[in-house]
Amino acid sequence: MSRGLVLGIESSCDETAAAVVAEGRRIVSNVVASQVQVHARFGGVVPEVASRQHLTAVVPVIREAMGSIAWDELAGVAVTYGPGLAGSLLVGLSAAKALAWAQGLALAGVNHLEAHLYANWLLEEEPRFPLLGLVVSGGHSDLVLMRQHLDYRLLGQTRDDAAGEAFDKVARILGLGYPGGPAIQQAAQRGDPARLTLPRAWLEGSLDFSFSGLKTAVLRLVERLEREPGPGAPTLNDVAAAFQESVVDVLAEKTARAAREYGVRTVILSGGVASNTRLREEVRRRVTLPVMCPPPSLCTDNAAMVAACGWYKLQAGRLAGLDLDVVPSLRLDAASKRGMM
Ligand code: KG4
Ligand code: ZN
Repeated sequence: MSRGLVLGIESSCDETAAAVVAEGRRIVSNVVASQVQVHARFGGVVPEVASRQHLTAVVPVIREAMGSIAWDELAGVAVTYGPGLAGSLLVGLSAAKALAWAQGLALAGVNHLEAHLYANWLLEEEPRFPLLGLVVSGGHSDLVLMRQHLDYRLLGQTRDDAAGEAFDKVARILGLGYPGGPAIQQAAQRGDPARLTLPRAWLEGSLDFSFSGLKTAVLRLVERLEREPGPGAPTLNDVAAAFQESVVDVLAEKTARAAREYGVRTVILSGGVASNTRLREEVRRRVTLPVMCPPPSLCTDNAAMVAACGWYKLQAGRLAGLDLDVVPSLRLDAASKRGMM
């Protein structure tokens, strides 16, 4: 008897991950091999290094996720085919295709951003449609309307840097290392955001975001503080706190505005930046609806979210062929526009 098990595989950036999820909702296994230590000394992800790390990790990670589960117990294999680094995506996709072919399994191609949204289906409560999703990761800051499963309307996106990218770049300016998000959050806890005011790009009348002006403002401010140090001057912790407040203010305000405008029933947060505790607090304070947010381990890259999304694709009969290619700049709304996937 089928238990509705889906094997998910994720390799879009610097995490090699595999997971088995039952009926899109219950995690059976969830294995993540992070390359963060390898890339930290370069201050960011080096694409070729990432691809090679995936090559060595992908088989052991899949083996560990499968544990004692037999191949014929699976309803299918789901894999991220974009967006992300081409060389990295190719490793996970090739592994998934080889398994699907050798074991005669159904294959589902998953967009990494829709996978982030589906991390919320791994929580106890089931998100209710229509819903508003905020996906904030290292490469994207998207506000998305979902009226039903696998249906995405992009309401707003970043015009320049993504929220996570801004955290990473500002952390580098402040000498806090990589990845920047958790480091800034920690520094911010020791700082006072009220000692500085940093700009917010409201882009009035639009649900788009822009964070590159803020990053430049932090750079100029830090240069000035280095030139004119003084006993009363703001500390780097104060700068980290003021930066975090500026990003959180815009993200939370636009999420609350979009939730009101589109009359949704639930707001779901996802992506690495959704592990930020101030962001979670502020969205919950400003949105009067149920706000769902996965635990940090399911906000950052993992394959359980890919398997969850894959289950709904398999249910909808949206199968991929063995000629599926990677799409490094895949858009979220391409997933609903394209009939097959
Ligand atoms: O979703 P994710 O793991 O990978 C991508 O799809 O990009 O997101 C990674 C991003 C990084 O930019 C990282 O700095 C950020 O999420 N991040 C955070 C926090 N934890 C991770 N940003 C702010 N606060 C955090 N606590
Ligand atoms: Zn991600």
